Amino acid sequence: AKGAAMVTAVASRVQAQRKRIDEVLALFRLTHEHLVDMQEKMRVELEYGLKRKTHPMATVKMLPTYVYGMPDGTEKGKFLALDLGGTNFRVLLVKIRRGRKSVRMYNKIFAIPLEIMQGTGEELFDHIVQCIADFLDYMGLKGAQLPLGFTFSFPCRQTSIDKGILIEWTKGFKATDCEGEDVVDMLREAIKRRNEFDLDIVAVVNDTVGTMMTCAYEDPNCEIGLIAGTGSNVCYMEEMRNIELVDEDEGRMCINTEWGGFGDNGCMDDIRTQYDKEVDEGSLNPGKQRYEKMTSGMYLGEIVRQILIDLTKQGLLFRGQVSERLRTRGIFETKFLSQIESDRLALLQVRGILQQLGLDSTCEDSIVVKEVCGAVSRRAAQLCGSGLAAIVEKRRQDQGLEQLRITVGVDGTLYKLHPHFSRILQETVKELAPQCDVTFMLSEDGSGKGAALITAVAKRLQQPWRE
Ligand code: GLC
Repeated sequence: AKGAAMVTAVASRVQAQRKRIDEVLALFRLTHEHLVDMQEKMRVELEYGLKRKTHPMATVKMLPTYVYGMPDGTEKGKFLALDLGGTNFRVLLVKIRRGRKSVRMYNKIFAIPLEIMQGTGEELFDHIVQCIADFLDYMGLKGAQLPLGFTFSFPCRQTSIDKGILIEWTKGFKATDCEGEDVVDMLREAIKRRNEFDLDIVAVVNDTVGTMMTCAYEDPNCEIGLIAGTGSNVCYMEEMRNIELVDEDEGRMCINTEWGGFGDNGCMDDIRTQYDKEVDEGSLNPGKQRYEKMTSGMYLGEIVRQILIDLTKQGLLFRGQVSERLRTRGIFETKFLSQIESDRLALLQVRGILQQLGLDSTCEDSIVVKEVCGAVSRRAAQLCGSGLAAIVEKRRQDQGLEQLRITVGVDGTLYKLHPHFSRILQETVKELAPQCDVTFMLSEDGSGKGAALITAVAKRLQQPWRE
């Protein structure tokens, strides 16, 4: 009888533990009503950003990009492109051949050391120019005066295609003396300081815009660009008459939404958890980019880590021992989350991955870790989907259509690497915007190629007599 009592005691302890774990996971479950609510709130913020009166306070900045049209296949030439702000910093040479829609690219990845990312602006831009010099050398192009497109994936206030004043850094960047400055000027000055070569900087482009352009080159229905990677953002083609910040009324312009700032006014507080708040408070930009911090690769692993710490403190994981590793920021990169959630992986392999991360787990631990990752990434995909649903529905209504067919160009490590993110995102859009027929098109190297295409279009418009 004693033994039986002990067995029951253990069983009920296990049950109680399970209940506590389930309670935490439940915080990340969103109902259909939640998602509809997010979609509606996103729609409101999109409108605020577009209106002159509300724009200054808007959390979704809705920045004009001065990209009016899509490539039409007549673009040609050799271009340099820079890509700063994603997982890697790259310099590219892009050769576009007219008509045949063939693009050739050569690129080199350069590291940006942490002390440069968070040093002074001058150091950052000197480093960038150093990388350009290395690349030109490497390609045997020293002295060539090529037009350059600069993919700079941060919020910029633009008044033309070749001006971009950095509003504020996002993601892991923090270099001083850049906010409020024109990044094109900063690049030009760094080139001058080096006094070795000259470049014609034609366009500054957000990565979402580059992605949209790259896909539009192949599919003219592509009018939206989505990045689900280190950061999260969307751009789309908007009717000029709706963009109060720009005086013209005819035609359309691409708007960089900077939707990562959604929720910064507290409108998502009902679904934010204590873990989201911890991630926000421990970040370089507390209080900012709250939606991005719930939906993008740079932060999902951090949310997971906060949950694991809490569960461990409650004695529900890792034998109640919060290890040094678990206290280390950034250990769960997108790559690891994606591996852990892969369906083909046996639990033993999950344990292996945790082992690699320096986390000693039991079999039960690895089950819980996998569940936690699943809950966090599922919510991310759903939130991203409800935002996208708001955009496509706006486009449908603005055009007065019963049914809208539209293509979204997509890039980003989370979308590309994660085993479930893209599917859940797509399902959510279908559920919330049933009158929109949305095709998702993966962009191959969107930001580099897109910058070159935009540069080519801008060049053509600058010098029509040379056609
Ligand atoms: C951040 C940046 C935004 C960029 C996105 C994806 O949200 O602010 O400009 O598009 O990351 O890289």
